[in-house]
Amino acid sequence: AATLVWFLARPPLDKKADFRHALRVPPLAASTVRDGKRVFELQARPGDSDLGHGTATRTWGYNGAYLGPTLRAARGEQVVVDVRNALPEPTTVHWHGMHLPAAVDGGPHRPIPVGGSYRAAWTVDQPAATLWYHPHPGERTETQVYRGLAGMFIVDDDEPAQRALPHDYGVDDVPVMVQDRVFDGDQLSMSDRFGSSIGVLGDELLVNGTPGPYLDVRSELVRLRLLNASTARIYNFQFADKRQFALVGTDGGLLERPYATDHIRLSVGERAEVVVSVRPGERATLRSVKSLGGDLDAKLNGGQDAFDVLQLRAAASLTPATLPGTLVATPRLDPASAAQTRSFTFQGREINGRKMDMHRNDAVVVKDTVEVWDVANGHDTPHSFHIHDVQFQVLAVDGGAPPPELGGWKDTLFMAPKQRYRIIARFADYADPDTPYMFHCHVLRHEDEGMMGQFIVV
Ligand code: C2O
Ligand code: CU
Repeated sequence: AATLVWFLARPPLDKKADFRHALRVPPLAASTVRDGKRVFELQARPGDSDLGHGTATRTWGYNGAYLGPTLRAARGEQVVVDVRNALPEPTTVHWHGMHLPAAVDGGPHRPIPVGGSYRAAWTVDQPAATLWYHPHPGERTETQVYRGLAGMFIVDDDEPAQRALPHDYGVDDVPVMVQDRVFDGDQLSMSDRFGSSIGVLGDELLVNGTPGPYLDVRSELVRLRLLNASTARIYNFQFADKRQFALVGTDGGLLERPYATDHIRLSVGERAEVVVSVRPGERATLRSVKSLGGDLDAKLNGGQDAFDVLQLRAAASLTPATLPGTLVATPRLDPASAAQTRSFTFQGREINGRKMDMHRNDAVVVKDTVEVWDVANGHDTPHSFHIHDVQFQVLAVDGGAPPPELGGWKDTLFMAPKQRYRIIARFADYADPDTPYMFHCHVLRHEDEGMMGQFIVV
């Protein structure tokens, strides 16, 4: 009977957008250089946004009403971020995907009190990548992100491939932060309209806070930095005409060579850099379509089979552009070099049968060693595995070779129901026996409810 009610209550299968709004592009964050350090300022604060429901949706943002500016720094640069908390509750800022000391990682151990401030300083020490930042206070992560606290952090380096790819920020190199939301009148609502166990599944899509967005394209190639910045929804991006595009980068940076595909699935918190080619004058519609199989798509997409995401509108004459055939050389980490193998099973709201405890370390890792982790989803719905500080490589999925889209650096991994993933990472140079890093499910309700563990590097 439950299934019958489910199908009778099913909303329309296809969510169409009217593409009436130019895609908003988050501004690049201003910075000053002091003593050779690049200094950014972020203020987390409430504001009023126009999210397509009138002019006064109450939201939270960094340096603005919704989302935050894009931070951008080069490999090797020393960065300082001064964060001020003008929210009515404590928060933290976590630099998702960034290799940095645990003390500035922004986990729940060092909340920034109401009215307080916090300085994070570190040296960017990793290849070019599309990272992001968001609150990580522990139990309020889901609501804080949902209200709008999130931004991108782009790492550049002087790899030639980096310059060969489209890189004119906001024109042919565009952040695409995809979020689903529920509205109650003109206000954001976290009501569980679809009765999902994984959190809020919205029936409206925002890209960089823009409802129904289009993007004017002026070059034959456009690079989209896709980020699943939702709190629960899983996307499977595909163009309406199923055109092929090139996957050029995953969470932690560029692939060895572009991988041609017609779809890319992004779990909560995952990124993909794709390069799409367009012809003069054409319109290409990016959508999110089913990907999970069985009844999971219905359960996890709130009953909708497809959502319009973004329309690309190519100019009548386009600047010629070509994609390089090779991008960066990436040495494979060798499982034979692993100092440790650990296993973690994600089930219910627990990891290995235990909920997050700030006073318990779930792993003690020796600095500068390689470890293999077997992470398993023991559950019948998906989870999203994320580990702080490191980028890992996927060695196996359920014992078999990983698919090509998992061939690059990753910090966040879609975990299909009942599947096992074998990953490998080098836990590098920051030892701090007193401050743990986190690993957790990035479905933020699961994380808030305790599906998180801690490791220290000694
Ligand atoms: Cu994007 Cu622990 O988080
Ligand atoms: Cu989960």
